[in-house]
Amino acid sequence: MDMKGKVVLVTGGASGHGRQYCVELFKQGCKISICDINTDAGEELLHELMKQGGTASSVIFNPCDVTDYMQFEEAFQATISKLGGVDIVVNNASVMNDRLWELEVDVNLNGVIRGLLLAFRFLGRDRGGPGGIVVNIGSSSCQNPLISLPVFTATKHAVAAMTRCYGDASHVNLTGVKVVAMCPAPTPAALQGDARKRLLSGEYEQTWQRDVSKTTPLKSEHAAKALVEIIRKAPSGSCWLVENSKAPSEIKMFS
Ligand SMILES: NC(=O)c1ccc[n+]([C@@H]2O[C@H](COP(=O)([O-])OP(=O)(O)OC[C@H]3O[C@@H](n4cnc5c(N)ncnc54)[C@H](O)[C@@H]3O)[C@@H](O)[C@H]2O)c1
Repeated sequence: MDMKGKVVLVTGGASGHGRQYCVELFKQGCKISICDINTDAGEELLHELMKQGGTASSVIFNPCDVTDYMQFEEAFQATISKLGGVDIVVNNASVMNDRLWELEVDVNLNGVIRGLLLAFRFLGRDRGGPGGIVVNIGSSSCQNPLISLPVFTATKHAVAAMTRCYGDASHVNLTGVKVVAMCPAPTPAALQGDARKRLLSGEYEQTWQRDVSKTTPLKSEHAAKALVEIIRKAPSGSCWLVENSKAPSEIKMFS
């Protein structure tokens, strides 16, 4: 797939991996719609991409909370009117904190459902749209469960299951929207922070240490290059583990 001129909407695009996805996709010639609740970081990235040659018709920032369907819908509408369409949606916004488990489910799972349903509505061929690609960001916990973060792990398994279902030919033949998942390993920030702040019980701390003891932190630059490869090549319905310094490898969760 030639990325040049493709319009990509990235949720949680203002910071973390999402920021680097925006930077890399912009370098590849894509138009970027940054969607995030963090307005300061979103505006800062918009400014940065403008300095790198972006214009009002190639990069925008939408203040957007993926737990709010109306705001999310407005982000799609703004992207279509300002950038000329949406070709690729990256459902990346996420919370990794089991202490906030209701919010975690609403962002990581319901937010991805909202993103998928909006993609079908605006991109679906059965709704008069052009078709496209949705990349759902899961987690390496789909392959190696984070036993210390049961709710986070469950949301990411659900995302992988949904990718498998909506990515099946029976849906894609109807909508023309390919659905894939990328499952990154933990970031340096996730491994370095105070784990107790995100675990439901202080008793889980040793389990967290065991969960991540063999993990090499994933750099955002590597994750972003893997994302481009997955967009280009991954068959619909597939889920890809991304670890540092390695090529993406397919996770076979279901036979
Ligand atoms: N951090 C890790 O170690 C890790 C491990 C496995 C998978 N992942 C996945 O990779 C992706 C990116 O992770 P990250 O480490 O860059 O996360 P991060 O916490 O650094 O960034 C998440 C981004 O999402 C935004 N966001 C949060 N709630 C939002 C909402 N309601 N609406 C819109 N935006 C919202 C934040 O403002 C932030 O910009 C996520 O899907 C995450 O689950 C991360």
